[in-house]
Amino acid sequence: MSLDHELERAKIVLLTGGIVALPTETVYGLAAMINNEEALKKIFAIKERPFFDPLIVHISDLEQRHQVVSAWPDVAAFLAEKFWPGPLTMVLPKREDLNSLITSGLNTVGIRMPAHPVARALIEECKVPLAAPSANKFGKTSPTKAEHVRKGFEKEDIFILDGGQSEVGLESTVVEITEEGGSSIVTILRPGAITAEILEAALGDRGQPFEVRRKSSMASPGNIEHHYMPNIPLVIVDQEGAALKQRVRDEICKDFEMERNVRGAELKLDPNPRIAARSLYVRMRECSDTGASFIFVFRNPTQVGGLWDAIWDRLGRASSRTYRG
Ligand code: TXA
Ligand code: MG
Repeated sequence: MSLDHELERAKIVLLTGGIVALPTETVYGLAAMINNEEALKKIFAIKERPFFDPLIVHISDLEQRHQVVSAWPDVAAFLAEKFWPGPLTMVLPKREDLNSLITSGLNTVGIRMPAHPVARALIEECKVPLAAPSANKFGKTSPTKAEHVRKGFEKEDIFILDGGQSEVGLESTVVEITEEGGSSIVTILRPGAITAEILEAALGDRGQPFEVRRKSSMASPGNIEHHYMPNIPLVIVDQEGAALKQRVRDEICKDFEMERNVRGAELKLDPNPRIAARSLYVRMRECSDTGASFIFVFRNPTQVGGLWDAIWDRLGRASSRTYRG
C-alpha cells in the first residue's frame, strides 16, 4: 500500500477519535489529536501509563505552537530556529485551555517539531498538533521500528505507520525554559541527542546571558528511575576485560534467583556514539530474544559527555543493578 494511502487512513483514524503509532526520528510515538479527550484517554489506557506522566505535543509548523503554549520567549524562538525540526522538546507555559490530561495538571507543556517526514505529514494533514508518548507499555523499552510497536501491543489493535528505523534511536532531549534575572535558564530534564554541549555552543553564539543546567533524574514527572526496561534483567558491570568474571556471574545469578551459570547476553555498544544510540534499543531487544536469562553491559569509563550521557542515562534506567568486576 502506498504511503499516501496509509497517511490518509491514519488521518481518518485520528479524526474519528482513534490513536495511531507513528515514526519519529527519535522513537515511535503513540499519537492522539490534542483536542480529543477520548483519544488521549486511550493512550494512557493502552500504554498502562499513570496520569502523572505528561505527554509531549508534536507540531508540524511554528504557527501551530499557538494551539499549545501561552508564551514564546526569545530563547525558545532561537532554539526552535536552531534545532527544529529535531529531537528537542521544550517545556513552556501551556495554553489555559490545553487538555490537562496532556500536562498531568502542570501549567507547562512539552512541545517539539519532529524531523521525520511521515510524522510531520500526518500532523499537517490533521491540522491539529498530536500528543504522543513513546509507543511502548509504560516502563518498557521504547520502539525504534514498526515491528517493535507491533510486538509490544500484540493484543491491542493499533494502526501503525511504518517509517523505517528511527534515525536517532533515543527519546528527545527535554529542556525546561525559564528566566532568572534577565538570564535564560535552559534546564535539561532528560538528556538526548541535543546535548548540553551542543546547547551551550548554540546559546553562546547567540550572545545573550544564559545558563544550561543539568538536572538529576527525578526532575521531570514520569522521568522515574526505572524505565526503558527490557524483558529480562539488565545489569551494568564496572569491569575492564572481555569476559564476565565468574564471581560477578555468581552474584548476578544469586541476586536474581537464577540457576548458577545460566546464560547472559552481552550488550555491546558501538564505539561511535551516534550508532550506539541508534541501535541501543534494537540491541536490548535482540539480547532479550536470544533466550538468555540476563543482559550485561560493561561500563566504559571513557564514554562520558555528549551523546554518551544520554546513552548511559537510558542504560542506567533500564538496568536493575550495577556490579563491580
Ligand atoms: O522523542 C520523544 O520525545 C518521543 C517521541 C515520540 O517524540 N516521545 C517521548 O515521550 O519520549 P514520553 O511520553 O515517553 O516521554 C515524555 C516525557 C515525560 O515522561 C516527562 O518526563 C517529560 O517528557 N515531560 C513532558 N511534559 C513535561 C512537562 N510539562 N514538564 C516536565 N517534563 C515533561
Ligand atoms: Mg517513554
